[in-house]
Amino acid sequence: MSVFRTQVGVVGAGPAGLVLSHLLAARGLDCIVIENRSRDYVEQRVRAGVLEHPTVELLRELGVADRLDREALVHRGVELSFAGQRRRIDFVDLTGRHITVYGQQEVVKDLIAARLDDGGSIHFEVDDVSVHDLDSTRPRISFSQHGDTHEIQCDIVAGCDGFHGVCRPSIPAGALTTYEHEWPFAWLGILARAAPTTDELIYSGHERGFSLYSMRSPEITRLYLQVALDDDLDAWPPDRIWSELSARLPTDLGFELVEGPIIEQGITALRSFVVTPMRYGRLFLAGDAAHIVPATGAKGLNLAVADVFVLAEGLDTFYRTGDESLLDAYSATCERRVWRVQHFSWWMTSMLHRFDHHDTFQRRLQLSELAYVTSSRAASTSLAENYVGLPFGLPATVVT
Ligand code: FAD
Ligand code: PHB
Repeated sequence: MSVFRTQVGVVGAGPAGLVLSHLLAARGLDCIVIENRSRDYVEQRVRAGVLEHPTVELLRELGVADRLDREALVHRGVELSFAGQRRRIDFVDLTGRHITVYGQQEVVKDLIAARLDDGGSIHFEVDDVSVHDLDSTRPRISFSQHGDTHEIQCDIVAGCDGFHGVCRPSIPAGALTTYEHEWPFAWLGILARAAPTTDELIYSGHERGFSLYSMRSPEITRLYLQVALDDDLDAWPPDRIWSELSARLPTDLGFELVEGPIIEQGITALRSFVVTPMRYGRLFLAGDAAHIVPATGAKGLNLAVADVFVLAEGLDTFYRTGDESLLDAYSATCERRVWRVQHFSWWMTSMLHRFDHHDTFQRRLQLSELAYVTSSRAASTSLAENYVGLPFGLPATVVT
């Protein structure tokens, strides 16, 4: 068995684990990242696409935004379509900020390349990961790779291993409280080789169900349809997908839907989930390991980045001064943003989806809310400031 020694052992090379590894390196702290998938797999996994303003600023500060600055799409607003109308929310006018559209897998590629170029340590394709002695000051992570067993001895374990990872389930039963909401529908998402015909996303709250028009590049569109929870991809051949998208998106109001070969597709359930505290002893949970939001607010990746920003500040103070107060406040500090984002994502989801149990009264409430949020400057500003991203928690000032 080989033994590695480091300050922070990071489980998971998704956005949370990789951004954390950069934040730590920038503060002169040492870490080892382990990931159970291959580098190729994590670099190809299609997921999020919308980066908040604070996320992009942080990536720039970390020196990993050169390609993003060259290739990403700047979106200055977003469109809501409902009841035969197309209404625009102008982020720049309302908040002075914009969002950036750049695939999560591109962020992940940039983070991995920069970390490895800098001599950072990321072990891909590890198996049998388990975490030990979390309530001591010398926690350990064990794993196997190519048939050999290994152990990382560290001061801190960062559980950045996503919703299905091993870190959260390693916390003793009873130490965590879970808050959860299941949604009665899922999203079918496709990537299509088709040029986008708009400069901005369209969220459509149609009678037939929600759909979303998004994009990745001048050649690739990303589209989503609300489908039933038990829906199967086999039931959705390309013709059905395109005709349903055409019915739900505002094609009768001047929007042109260009079709193209579907290069990726999948069905994802929507979930709202939070565990608290996001810490057990020397294990700190970050990102999807601690919380999930329905994708309607485009927030999951951004929230993962916000968590590790707070964690890195706490670790920096801990290693420089021995003061653990920011680490002690980690969960409470993160949770302020987590619950704000949970509410925003829940609100967007509730406002835009078709609920089979809805009576006409509830549908009229949805339409009234959509009309209000797209006509009142105060209500539009609330949507816009949440969408472009509220500031990351600054522990020293936020915690009282
Ligand atoms: P993950 O990305 O899940 O990373 C966890 C990593 O840990 C993975 O690489 C995994 O392989 C690894 N791992 C798991 N178990 C182990 C183990 N035992 N040992 C070692 N490694 C392990 N968010 C947005 O902000 N904007 C959007 O527009 C958006 N759209 C989305 C659309 C879809 C269809 C989906 C599914 C998600 C979307 N999200 C969006 C959410 C976003 O993708 C996630 O919130 C984000 O990936 C969270 O990052 P993370 O690092 O916490 O977790
Ligand atoms: C995406 O482009 O993948 C995307 C955009 C906005 C969302 C969710 C996903 O709300």
